[in-house]
Amino acid sequence: MSILKIARLGHSILYKKASLVDNITEPGIKKLIHDMSETMIDYKGIGLAAPQVHISKQIIIFRMIEDQEKKSNEIKITALINPRIIKTSEETDNKWEGCLSIPGMLGLVKRHSSISYEGFDMSGNKIQQNAEGLHARIVQHECDHLNGVVFTHRLVNKKAYGYEDEIEEYWKKKYE
Ligand code: NI
Repeated sequence: MSILKIARLGHSILYKKASLVDNITEPGIKKLIHDMSETMIDYKGIGLAAPQVHISKQIIIFRMIEDQEKKSNEIKITALINPRIIKTSEETDNKWEGCLSIPGMLGLVKRHSSISYEGFDMSGNKIQQNAEGLHARIVQHECDHLNGVVFTHRLVNKKAYGYEDEIEEYWKKKYE
């Protein structure tokens, strides 16, 4: 496995629509997902999309947050190939988000509070899942990457964006 280089804000690959994976079970896809997982863990991220590692394919990974609350050292990572959000709640909420392509920065972003999504795992099995809270937010954020959208395109308020430590001090209380 290897740690991959992450494209940062401004790199054109982040604004391109990623292409569908034709052959889900090919070994190259499995290797890519393993490398993405290692990269995400190394950078202490909670989600990563293939375009962020310079590969314009519809693949996302994310940590299963629910499992983190249990006292286990194991990090559970979900990989989704060709994911699609199929249902979204009318209800939305605003929360602060970061992104490995925009290190050190946070922005306040509006997302659907709950969603249903589908996609395929590495073995080609279809996955369908309902998600809410942080889980729903991560999937929306990562699927955005596959459509060339980064969170700075979705800021609730242009002022609610900046360096993490400044945001902590000056903005979080105001907007939460
Ligand atoms: Ni991101």
